[in-house]
Amino acid sequence: MRWWMCLSRPELVKPEIAGIAEYVPGRSIEEIARKFSLDPGSIIKLGSNENVLGPSPKAIEAIRSCAGRVNIYPSADACELVDAISAYTGFPAGNICASGPGMDGLLDNLMRLLILPDDEVILPIPTFSYYEIAARANGAVPVHVNLAEDLFLDADAVINAESSRTKIIFLCSPNNPTGKQVKEADLRRILEHTRGVVFVDEAYVEFSEHDHSHLVREYDNIIIGRTLSKAFGLAGMRLGYGIMPVWLKQQYMKIATPFNISVPSIAAGVAALSDSAHLLESILCVRKGRDMLKMKIPFKVYDSMANFVLVDVSPYSSADVAESLLKKGIIVRDCRSFKGAGDSLIRVTVGTRTQNERVIEAFEGFLAHF
Ligand SMILES: Cc1ncc(COP(=O)(O)O)c(C=O)c1O
Repeated sequence: MRWWMCLSRPELVKPEIAGIAEYVPGRSIEEIARKFSLDPGSIIKLGSNENVLGPSPKAIEAIRSCAGRVNIYPSADACELVDAISAYTGFPAGNICASGPGMDGLLDNLMRLLILPDDEVILPIPTFSYYEIAARANGAVPVHVNLAEDLFLDADAVINAESSRTKIIFLCSPNNPTGKQVKEADLRRILEHTRGVVFVDEAYVEFSEHDHSHLVREYDNIIIGRTLSKAFGLAGMRLGYGIMPVWLKQQYMKIATPFNISVPSIAAGVAALSDSAHLLESILCVRKGRDMLKMKIPFKVYDSMANFVLVDVSPYSSADVAESLLKKGIIVRDCRSFKGAGDSLIRVTVGTRTQNERVIEAFEGFLAHF
């Protein structure tokens, strides 16, 4: 390390940042190729729940054809994309905020909009870790509640965790990493009980059986978060959106980063949302693959409504099993980095048929050594 790299002034950083654990992303092909001396072409990436069929051909064409226009700023509110989301969701533009980078950008803006120092946010765990990072960076205090034994949301625990300082309740449906959906009756009870706002993350909703967006028409304290990173195959374009009550969109637009969605991302998003054939193919691939993994992985596999399955490898440790898969060029997610997940859970993105066969063989291979 060079001497100037040791210079530091931590006192200049907001104190609430000091205790935040860094976000742990899924591992990349390049990293694993280097670590295990593997050919990058032989590695399958099933650790970040991306679309294994790739982007829609219509989106690829749209990105190519807007290249000559990137000297111009995009529309500040991405209105073309908002219109396309409106057509897809059935909600008027007044309820929709398009966001970049991804749904993470939506979360950042909402936290800036809503959180006052010492506000509490309720987090049923294990769940997607960026909620806590974004909330704490704005001075919020996390209140963790455990999921029920069957990994479904424990609505009573959430309601009991409510206090006079509760500002946001984060619910993820289907939940990452469990794949379980929130039941509508539970969500209604929580919406009716809380004095705060309920953020329902539906990143994986296209792979599931029902969504909760219709509740935006009934309640004034619900926000639905969505992304084009999963079923629409655009993780690299970093596109998300929120469906929220009109009053909240009006406030949100005051502080949203201007021009936060790039020209190619807007073009890709509009095209992908119009490609219902690619969307359907992606959903069918996941539903078939999910059943196959559930049946054939030789460990307990939880039922999932998302494009991944959660595998409990006990009595072995997730670290050992994930490492043995990595050595075979299969990137999966060791869930130890999820608060409250313990040390025996692995999340596997549903792949193509051939990829799923490799995954099953790799789990079988691990057991064959014991
Ligand atoms: C539950 C959940 N919400 C949000 C995101 C982030 O989505 P985006 O890529 O739109 O930022 C992810 C990404 O994996 C996720 O799993």
